[in-house]
Amino acid sequence: MNILVLGSGGREHAITWSLAKSPRCDALYVAPGNGGTSNVAENVPTLDMMNAEAVLGFVRDKGIQLVVIGPEAPLVAGVADKLRAAGVLVFGPNAQGALLEGSKEYSKKFMAANNIPTAKYASFTECEPALAYVREQGAPIVVKADGLAAGKGVVVAETVEAAEEAVQSCFDGAFGDAGNTVLIEECMTGPECSLLAFVSAGKAFCMAPAQDHKRAFDGDKGPNTGGMGVYSPVPMVTEEEMAEMVRIMEVAAAATAKKPFEQDYRGVLYGGFMLTPEGPKIVEFNVRFGDPETQVVLPRLESDLVDVMEKVASGNVDDLELSWSNTWAVGVVLASAGYPGSYEKGKVILGIEEAEDLDDVVVFHAGTKLNSDGELITAGGRVLNVVALGDTFDEAREQAYRACDLINFEGKQFRTDIGKKAADFFRSSN
Ligand code: AMP
Ligand code: GLY
Repeated sequence: MNILVLGSGGREHAITWSLAKSPRCDALYVAPGNGGTSNVAENVPTLDMMNAEAVLGFVRDKGIQLVVIGPEAPLVAGVADKLRAAGVLVFGPNAQGALLEGSKEYSKKFMAANNIPTAKYASFTECEPALAYVREQGAPIVVKADGLAAGKGVVVAETVEAAEEAVQSCFDGAFGDAGNTVLIEECMTGPECSLLAFVSAGKAFCMAPAQDHKRAFDGDKGPNTGGMGVYSPVPMVTEEEMAEMVRIMEVAAAATAKKPFEQDYRGVLYGGFMLTPEGPKIVEFNVRFGDPETQVVLPRLESDLVDVMEKVASGNVDDLELSWSNTWAVGVVLASAGYPGSYEKGKVILGIEEAEDLDDVVVFHAGTKLNSDGELITAGGRVLNVVALGDTFDEAREQAYRACDLINFEGKQFRTDIGKKAADFFRSSN
């Protein structure tokens, strides 16, 4: 099968790497791709993934039989709809389904209609009533721009003043049209956990839970980032919590296939959960694989990803079964100095081969490219995801950090406590 993956991050490298392992995978392209995807597939740097016509032209030209859409932006823009209308098999929900991530208000209505537990909220299209509501509710409180804001549209405000400022900046256009509607939410508490599921024909096939580390520095300090490290599965999740999260994903999947939503959802649904004292509640749905969750979840998948994606994309999931290795996976992000603020690019990266020579280590590229001399250089804030698998959690964690030490580029920055909470949990329960 000839396959095209759209995207350029660590998630897309992990997807491409998994597809490339399949004996069913013939030609494999990534558009635009990065410095790592070119090791397992052919990069197509000039193809604009937001331009459905251009993608369709490439599909016809190269005889592509499956298109896998990685990021949310093309999904929200309806690229899957246009390709499907032209008869192409596509992994990724249509624009209606992508609203679960593209509009937080739509997502809240979807949850309310299906009794899916989530934070209480109110939505506003004007500033004054929103400010009045914030003052009436008090802090802590959460302010969210309705639309896509590259992960930056959420403020967890510890004070009423901070919440007022966030409301004001949304209505002042800090997030463009994404902030025309503002949601104000009750602040939930508890550990966060991501549960991804393949969703098709109204059914959910859950993957293993994973825990991301969003803050930049050790001890969950510093600014929020796209994710600095991750591990899977998550030992602190109780059996009851896991059963409830799976139930919620199944309810959501069933609702995608029924009136009034009828999304014809065929892709991954990402449940971002908070394990609150009242039980797991949804913080957000995303309509794609998580980044960096995918980088620790897919290496544990033993099923053939080409088979899985073909079934999900075509809606024939009656005999779909997922099998997982009985291992632990820990992924550490190596970032550029200064990230998530401003940072320099173009630093030469050394030591990846040595790191990958270690047993059970794989390095997924997030922000890298090859320069004109063929050297691998940094090209983003998050540069690499160093992932290790192990029979025990400690083994995986130690091996991941051993590999991190072998890789070097000027300004390399990473957290040294990825997975510490899980390691402490094991220690305290033994
Ligand atoms: P989101 O972009 O919706 O994933 O939000 C980013 C982060 O903000 C989440 O991962 C949570 O840590 C936090 N957050 C969002 N909504 C809430 C909420 N209602 N209560 C507490 N924290 C939240
Ligand atoms: N790991 C967070 C996300 O993919 O949105």
